[in-house]
Amino acid sequence: MTYPGEGMETMTTPPSTLPQSNDPCWCGSGRKYKRCHRRTEGRVLPGLVSPMRTVPEHIGRPPYAGTGEVFSLDESNVKSPDVIERMRVAGKMAGEILRLAGEAVDPGVTTEQLDEYVHQLHIERDAYPSPLNYQGYPKSVCTSVNEVICHGIPDSRALVEGDIVNIDVTAYVGGVHGDTNATFFVGDVDPVSRQLVAVTEECTWLGIEAVAPGRPISDIGRAIEDHAHKHQYGVVRAFIGHGIGEQFHGDIQVLHYYNSQASLTMRPGMTFTIEPMISLGAWQHRMWDDGWTAVTADGSRTAQFEHTILVTDDGADVLTGGGGAVSPAAPWNR
Ligand code: MF3
Ligand code: CO
Ligand code: CO
Repeated sequence: MTYPGEGMETMTTPPSTLPQSNDPCWCGSGRKYKRCHRRTEGRVLPGLVSPMRTVPEHIGRPPYAGTGEVFSLDESNVKSPDVIERMRVAGKMAGEILRLAGEAVDPGVTTEQLDEYVHQLHIERDAYPSPLNYQGYPKSVCTSVNEVICHGIPDSRALVEGDIVNIDVTAYVGGVHGDTNATFFVGDVDPVSRQLVAVTEECTWLGIEAVAPGRPISDIGRAIEDHAHKHQYGVVRAFIGHGIGEQFHGDIQVLHYYNSQASLTMRPGMTFTIEPMISLGAWQHRMWDDGWTAVTADGSRTAQFEHTILVTDDGADVLTGGGGAVSPAAPWNR
């Protein structure tokens, strides 16, 4: 009996010239390159995940913090003035933490270190990092690198020059959540990825500009999809924007593509997120075995920006925008 690759010269690191798809893999397995190492080359690989962090007792925590089980509360889509005021505080805080986390992005920094920093930034502000133990999620922030669409778990992987990394911060303070994310550059990034990130941010703001009372919520997805398709980019469908308030994920669904069935009429006082995920190629996703990390089906890079939005009498307020229509990512991504 022989095994694939037996008797062949074997290598553990790829040679400088890679084989064609149907040629034997460089590693000596005897399998076609496309069935062997091509699947992982240039891809993000899972690292080691450290134990869950703890939050001091005096900090108010959401109902799922203890058990990881999420129950839906009976919460109105239209928020009271009191809830809205508290959401402004949570949103502003999440925006500030996101900005600080983005400033810490550098080659050699591990996503684990970003998690530790983001966790600390919440604790210092007497806030609970909403992702922690949400349906058992093991960390305080999501860090999604390159082809990772969303929900990347911080681990021992160091950021590499040329990577793009999305940091998704959600702060729970005053009994409500504020949810925002942005995609950051790790050192010098290639022009194709830079363009993807720029257009994704434009998509997010075009979605926000489509918010108006009396209009169907499908206007948001149409604006986003039209702009992405102009650039021949993919619009991820499996993950959508959501109602937010006392619950992390409320009833409202915000699709980032057009669907005439999304007929909910926007009303003043509604709060939800807009968080398009745009890819250079496939809009379809695959899941890692960890049950959280979603990657593009073809390994193409993907970017995302997110804001928590309030529908007003004449448009939208960006609760995570730091008091103005300025993306927290803007100063260092340009
Ligand atoms: N912040 C993400 C969102 O935008 C949700 C993360 S859920 C987690 O909806 F469990 F992965 F943290
Ligand atoms: Co969100
Ligand atoms: Co988020």
